[in-house]
Amino acid sequence: MTLQEKREVASVGSNAALAARDHRPGDYVCRNAWYSLCHDSAVKNKPLARTLDEKPVVVWRDRTGKIVVQDDSCLHRRVPLSLGKIADGTLQCPYHGWSYDSRGSCVKIPSLGPGSTPNSRFVLGTYPSHVRYGLVWVWYGDPAATDTDLIPDIPFLHPNRSAPCERQLVYEAASELAVENLLDLTHLDILHGRIIGDPGGGFENIEESATDEVVTMTRLSKDRKPPASQAPFYGFPKQQDFFQMTLTYVRTGACLVSTFFTPPGWNISLYLPCTPEGPNRTRMDYSMAITGPWWYQKIFPPLNRIIAMQDHRVLRVQNPNYRRKFDADDRDKSVPADAPGLRYRQVRRALIQRQMAGDMAYRDGWRGKDPAEVLHAKRLG
Ligand code: FES
Ligand SMILES: [Fe+2]
Repeated sequence: MTLQEKREVASVGSNAALAARDHRPGDYVCRNAWYSLCHDSAVKNKPLARTLDEKPVVVWRDRTGKIVVQDDSCLHRRVPLSLGKIADGTLQCPYHGWSYDSRGSCVKIPSLGPGSTPNSRFVLGTYPSHVRYGLVWVWYGDPAATDTDLIPDIPFLHPNRSAPCERQLVYEAASELAVENLLDLTHLDILHGRIIGDPGGGFENIEESATDEVVTMTRLSKDRKPPASQAPFYGFPKQQDFFQMTLTYVRTGACLVSTFFTPPGWNISLYLPCTPEGPNRTRMDYSMAITGPWWYQKIFPPLNRIIAMQDHRVLRVQNPNYRRKFDADDRDKSVPADAPGLRYRQVRRALIQRQMAGDMAYRDGWRGKDPAEVLHAKRLG
């Protein structure tokens, strides 16, 4: 659908019925899903603290090198185990030294004396986990439904290796707001206008498509002026086109964001998991794949850090306005460029309704288009 067609649809169609009051970011975290918690490379010889849906979890590596994700709260007196240490392949609490193995069994309680065996019912909550694309994934939901085939496809990352460039950031805002930020990239021209956008704009064609679980936004923009800060890198072209894709796994907020610049024909692809730490906090331990000369690969990550800070400035003040109660007619006003974000709200709301009714299943065809194919087709086009 073209932008013009979208405009007509948006003015009369179902998108207009999606009210802000129906959409309160941060209220619900979906179950039966793989959330990426941290980079595999970040888990060394010390336990690492993370949070998912307000639950503190600890990530550590057992004697065999396998990743373990467990409740970050000692069964004895609730001290965070992430403050402890790994000793003899177990996780040891820093307070009285209770130690847990990779299955959560408490295997040592020093105060019981040497040779004693802890109560077999002292078992720490342990989550199914898996390492892929250099990321630690944790299954949040019914352990019996755990299935590694449900991990998102990330075509620009190697499944068995860490990404060439890994970074972390935290937003003081709900995960849904971080996702919408990535589904509407027209904000690049304004909020990030000096770094990556063009306030003058250009030809725009924004399209969206969706399954029950995945929303895909594509944005083709032509005849643009390269941003002043980057024009020298590209050889000062007078005009530049770019193609962008954001693909969102709605259940978890995990996003794939790719941008192709022509000229010079370089590409930046980011995996940005909008992992919900709580209603007002989102964590992204994110990964980048950049094509272009080595120096561009060095320059872009710090630029992206500035971009993220600019986003955070907006998201953290936007968040309280969404977290308070809305009046009946206090709705977001939207334009055609908001169609992908509105679609995301619609898909997410349906998903939450299904989950609240007890239906956690993934439906046939939920993945939709292969992200690699979307990118390839558009690059050729
Ligand atoms: S609180 Fe952990 S051993 Fe006492
Ligand atoms: Fe942004």
